[in-house]
Amino acid sequence: MSRPTRAVIDRAAFVYNYRHAKSLAPDARAVAVVKANAYGHGAVALSRALADEADAFGVACIEEAKELRAAGIHNDIVLLEGVFEPDELVDVDVEQFIQVVHAEHQLRWLLDRRPRRPYRVWLKLDSGMHRLGFDNEGFHSAYATLRDCAHVAELVPVTHFACADETDNAYTQRQLEVFRSATQGLANDFSVANSAATLGLPATRGGWIRPGIMLYGASPLGQANPSGDLLRPVMRLESAIIAIRDLAAGEAVGYGRRFICERPMRVGVVAIGYGDGYPRHAEDGTPVAIDGVRSRVVGRVSMDMMTVDLSPVPDAHVGSVVELWGEQILANEVAWHADTIAYELFTGVTRRVPLTYREPA
Ligand SMILES: Cc1ncc(COP(=O)(O)O)c(C=O)c1O
Repeated sequence: MSRPTRAVIDRAAFVYNYRHAKSLAPDARAVAVVKANAYGHGAVALSRALADEADAFGVACIEEAKELRAAGIHNDIVLLEGVFEPDELVDVDVEQFIQVVHAEHQLRWLLDRRPRRPYRVWLKLDSGMHRLGFDNEGFHSAYATLRDCAHVAELVPVTHFACADETDNAYTQRQLEVFRSATQGLANDFSVANSAATLGLPATRGGWIRPGIMLYGASPLGQANPSGDLLRPVMRLESAIIAIRDLAAGEAVGYGRRFICERPMRVGVVAIGYGDGYPRHAEDGTPVAIDGVRSRVVGRVSMDMMTVDLSPVPDAHVGSVVELWGEQILANEVAWHADTIAYELFTGVTRRVPLTYREPA
């Protein structure tokens, strides 16, 4: 038997989540954000699953965009951070990628080169996140320059929110007002909404929405949300029990003797650890499901293994399947117990873990 650790990816759930995003914003087009290997789920496989209906795909860099093209994906592709080097504009031109322009140096590179076909540009305003984008004055000047540039065909104002995951945070409203005031009178499309805004802020659902994490079935919102609750997890990270220990009360488990048995206990060793991307910071009590029964992590996670409480699963045996996150154990729950976020869990799954794709039912 080979190592039983794998991530099972449900492409139908991904497609369902995309449709759900679009149903929340029926008048908008949606960029399916598949950067970072589709948040660890496999960008080519998931983009192919959505190719017939995705309005566009969103990636972080040209290498990711070219990987999709090479795999036969012909949909529009947005470079969410634009180009990092002027040479990349050759591929932008050939492949007709949509480029974000967020800074003066990118604007200069674009103006210095004459493309074969006009560029498609998303111009980014820094409405308050202070990561990428032009300030108000820079935005207006760049907008005027690009509007008058003969080799720019499409010019879409965009911005990104800092706190949209906190639905009652007034800062998002302020950012929206800054964006609206900066783009007033520009008869154009726009793009502002990530997953959190798509789920929690109806006022942002227009133009082009840019859902990412919600497509993978995890809500980014801090609180329950009827739309977020309908999402379907796409990744099931699973492994199996490879050894069992019967321990007396007072015995300790694993590195550092972090967990001390409160009573006589059966403890299962699972073939997954931080070398696979399971978070080492998962505390005692982090949920797992063993043969479908909820239980908990006991003891520190090591590189290749971790230990779980078998008390609620008396029939557990070597070979019992353990779900680390998926439909039964939400990645958000694990994230909460490991002081992180589902984004980091998904993208942190290492290449030792095979991604396997569930066939449609
Ligand atoms: C510019 C931009 N838009 C959209 C997204 C998607 O965000 P989320 O995964 O929170 O939906 C990201 C992701 O970080 C991003 O950087």
